[in-house]
Amino acid sequence: MSKTVNIDWKTLGFKYIKTDLRYVARWKEGRWDRGELVEDNTLRISEGSTALHYGQTCFEGLKAYRTKEGKIQLFRPDANARRLQESCRRLLMPEVPMETFIDACMQVVRANEHYVPPYGTGATLYLRPYMIGVGDNIGVAPAPEYIFSVFCIPVGAYFKGGMVPVNFTVSDHDRAAPHGTGAVKVGGNYASSLMPHHLAAEKGFADCIYLDPATRTKIEEVGAANFFGITADETFVTPQSPSILPSITRASLVRVAKDYLGMKAEERDVYIDQLDQFTEAGACGTAAVITPIGGIEYKGQLHVFYSEKEVGPVTKKLYDTLCGIQFGEKEAPEGWIYEV
Ligand code: PLP
Ligand code: COI
Repeated sequence: MSKTVNIDWKTLGFKYIKTDLRYVARWKEGRWDRGELVEDNTLRISEGSTALHYGQTCFEGLKAYRTKEGKIQLFRPDANARRLQESCRRLLMPEVPMETFIDACMQVVRANEHYVPPYGTGATLYLRPYMIGVGDNIGVAPAPEYIFSVFCIPVGAYFKGGMVPVNFTVSDHDRAAPHGTGAVKVGGNYASSLMPHHLAAEKGFADCIYLDPATRTKIEEVGAANFFGITADETFVTPQSPSILPSITRASLVRVAKDYLGMKAEERDVYIDQLDQFTEAGACGTAAVITPIGGIEYKGQLHVFYSEKEVGPVTKKLYDTLCGIQFGEKEAPEGWIYEV
């Protein structure tokens, strides 16, 4: 490592920090250019860009981890590449080939290596790949040009405190329509979540829980993370629905629960009025990692799972095993780790 940066790794939250270099590629007339690393963290785009008016934007989130030996590794970037392709297909955007996506992530991590937090601090380097529709346009139509970019930021905990329980409230708003864009990672889903998040935060909650938009009886998402509950017989339960974002962390936890911890795992309906079945609950995602859910407020009542203060033992086991894999302390299933 040649360069050093003056960052207090242990107190990092989830905030924008300008790092040195980002990858930018442009698509025009049916093809991507070669892409390059640039210093400028601003983009000059047409005022007619579809990203500005019609929400033709999608993104991803993944992390680079520093291991005990000082190596750097990405966790399942191929899964993020595939999910970005899904988002692109849904918004009629050109897909980024998997190799380009992974190569762009690798280039960005290498170019900003001094921003990868040291092992043992709990912090990581968050990568934000995104694509936007740009170019001169005014009708509601796919853009004539696109930009694919990847930048990175060193981050700590997404929810205040990290592995400490936080409370959520059930939102009166829906995050996604029954046959809408809930299962892809597109900008509009997040624009519409700003108000529900604001209302939850005003009431003192970390974020809100979204119910299924068709019947409003089942849990779908926990803000920008998926929900999981643990039953008394140690089954990992997570909701199934076509309007949930298929979380890569959640898919990994299903595997961890079954193959590493000998638990059962089920994807099924989780009714909001049947929370008693769970002895513990949590939110999972790249940014959230695993955040224990202290309680959920619904119709004026707070349902507490394990404790509002302490992490439950199964949630802790899941967290330790997943992080152990991500930071290279535990052997990973084949294909999960990409050394930078
Ligand atoms: N759900 C939503 C709405 C999200 O934005 C995210 C974050 O990416 C997740 C779930 C978790 O997905 P992942 O584990 O792939 O980061
Ligand atoms: C992630 O976990 O990567 C997210 O996208 C969550 C949020 C910051 C939007």
